[in-house]
Parts: sequence; C-alpha cells; structure tokens
Amino acid sequence: MASSLNWAILGTGSIAEKFAEGLPLCQHGKLVAVGSRNADSAEAFVAKHAGQAYGSYEEAIADPQVEAVYIALPHHLHAEWTIKAARAGKHILCEKPFAMNLAQAREALAAVKEAGVFFMEAFMYRCHPQTILLRQLLNDGVIGRIMVVTGEFCYATQRPGKHFRVDPALGGGALMDVGCYPVSMIRLIAGQEPKRVVYSAELTPEGYDGYGSGLMDFENGVRATFNASVHCNGRNWVTINGENGTITVTDPWFCNGQLVVQINGRAPEEMRYRKPPHLWGNQSIVAAQLLERKQAPFMSWEDTLGNMRILDLMRQSAGIRWDVDE
Ligand SMILES: NC(=O)c1ccc[n+]([C@@H]2O[C@H](COP(=O)([O-])OP(=O)(O)OC[C@H]3O[C@@H](n4cnc5c(N)ncnc54)[C@H](OP(=O)(O)O)[C@@H]3O)[C@@H](O)[C@H]2O)c1
Repeated sequence: MASSLNWAILGTGSIAEKFAEGLPLCQHGKLVAVGSRNADSAEAFVAKHAGQAYGSYEEAIADPQVEAVYIALPHHLHAEWTIKAARAGKHILCEKPFAMNLAQAREALAAVKEAGVFFMEAFMYRCHPQTILLRQLLNDGVIGRIMVVTGEFCYATQRPGKHFRVDPALGGGALMDVGCYPVSMIRLIAGQEPKRVVYSAELTPEGYDGYGSGLMDFENGVRATFNASVHCNGRNWVTINGENGTITVTDPWFCNGQLVVQINGRAPEEMRYRKPPHLWGNQSIVAAQLLERKQAPFMSWEDTLGNMRILDLMRQSAGIRWDVDE
C-alpha cells in the first residue's frame, strides 16, 4: 500500500479544482504537476494549489516526479489521455463517463492492463461510505427482494452555447454528462446487467439530448427508471422499493444527505456512517490504498465497461450517434 502518491492533474476546470482542494485534506496524495492547454491557466492553478505548471498535458505526464494522473478533461479526451498516461507508466483516475463509447473504453483499458497500472473511473459516489453502506444493506436483504428503483440527476447548465457538455461532437448531452450516474447506480443496486434498456429524449436542434428518461429491466425482476437533464434542475433522489420496505438516498451523487431505511409498518430510520474528509479527494485515498490491486472493488474495470455498454445501447435507442462510433 502506498501511503501517498504524487499526482498530476490534466485540465484546470471545475472538477480539477475540487480534486486539488481535496488532495491535502485527504493526506494520501500530493499535487506535483498541472497540465493545461494554456500555460497561464496552469500557472494560475498551481499558484492557488501546488505543483509545477506545464503548458501541455504531455509535459505534465512526463514529469518524473508524477506517479498518478487525474484526467479532468471533457469526455472526448478521456480515452486518449488514459492511453497516454498508461503508456507513460502512470496510475490513473479518469473522469466519467470513461469514454465516448464502449469500443474506446475497451481500447483504453487494454492499454491500462498492458501497462500494469492502477485505474479507476472517477465515479466518486461509488467509493463513498454512503454508497458502500447502501450496497451492504441491499446485500443483507434489509428491504427484501428489490422490485422498483427510481433515480434522477438533473441540473440546469450555467454554461450553454459551445461548452462541451452541450456539444454533441464532444460527447455532450444529459445522458453522458449526468445520466451515466443513475445508470451506474441502478446497475449497482440490481447487482447484474440489464436485459433491456431504453432511453427516450428529443434532441435539440444542435443534436444533443437536453433531458431524457431511461428504463432498465433486469432478469432478477428489478425495474428501474431515471431522469437526466442538463436543462432543468431536479430533486435528484434515488428510491429503492423492496418487498419489505424502501430505501431513500436524498443526495446519491454528492453524498451530502440522508440514507433512510423504512421497513413496512415501522418508522423511517436514518443510517449513520463516517464521512471521508472530502468527496473527491477520497479517491486519492482509494488509489493509494488499492494501488497493488490495480482496481477498486467498488468501481472495477468490468463495471466501467458495463456502464459504457449500457450508455451505447441507450444512445442507440434515442438516436444519438457520435462520429467516433463504428
Ligand atoms: N465526478 C464529478 O463530480 C464531476 C463533476 C463535474 C465534472 N465531471 C467530469 O469532469 C470532466 C471535466 O468537467 P469540468 O466540469 O471540470 O469541465 P470544465 O470546468 O469545463 O473543465 C474542463 C477542462 O478541460 C480542458 N479542456 C481541454 N479541451 C477542452 C475543450 N475542448 N473544451 C473545454 N475544456 C477543455 C480545459 O482545461 P485546460 O484549458 O486547462 O487544458 C478545461 O478547463 C467531464 O468529463 C465531466 O463529466 C465530474
């Protein structure tokens, strides 16, 4: 187990900021390099946080001090920079969704495997104690057989126009940006891959899904629905209905709410667990602790591929195609 890793961050946007804030609080990682398309952005970022500034991602990866790379770039760059970081022998934490499609994800994970480095898709909610406890409660059968799951991740973007989140050429749209969370959570709750999926969305004139709804059916009888949006805000809860009761997660993605179990006929009970020092920084603890295992059990490579497969099928059902699709 590495007690601490030396990190490079690629990109200087909003999520790069969060990870840089979390690193010192979590005490298992140190920021030593920052790569940006723009040397001034990298300089401003390191002035606020720490590390050596580089005017390119290549240079940050090549820094011999760097042991691990956090890829905080738009979706269309994830697979490319995972491959480059892996070939440079660096451990990798890469933002979600891992790639534009399953084919890209497979290629990038093959490079990771060949390099023998640690890799985790940065679904930070997956390694949070709230989600780990939720999984434990379900495995223990606390609410009996799971039947119905509903989930939501909806927000109104403050950055319309040419931003990657709403640019179909760069993997924009609600399903890829936020729908990937309920898809991931529902697969976790069901404990298997769905037998049938549908995603229904009207595409905007620009060709992206501003909002949409998904349906996932599983062999074990779980039926799940979710909403995703980059155009409107939502309640963003996850609710799981089982034969003996209900579990409600009031902040499933940022893990700052309640995990409530209500067994039929009893009063609701709020579950307690210990919070990590920082939601995003917690991933640096996971990477340091699980380095030798190469992957995290609660966010395995197989799981990443499973999510990408469903995102592909859902895009197909809604008529969302990228140029990089075969
Ligand atoms: N896990 C989470 O909680 C969470 C939350 C938000 C976002 N994310 C994910 O993190 C990734 C980055 O999101 P973000 O919110 O940090 O976005 P952002 O604020 O726009 O930052 C993205 C950064 O990527 C770099 N970049 C390179 N090519 C770009 C392009 N063509 N357009 C825009 N930026 C480009 C830029 O950094 P330089 O100019 O410095 O190179 C930019 O600052 C996305 O994949 C997103 O899905 C995850």
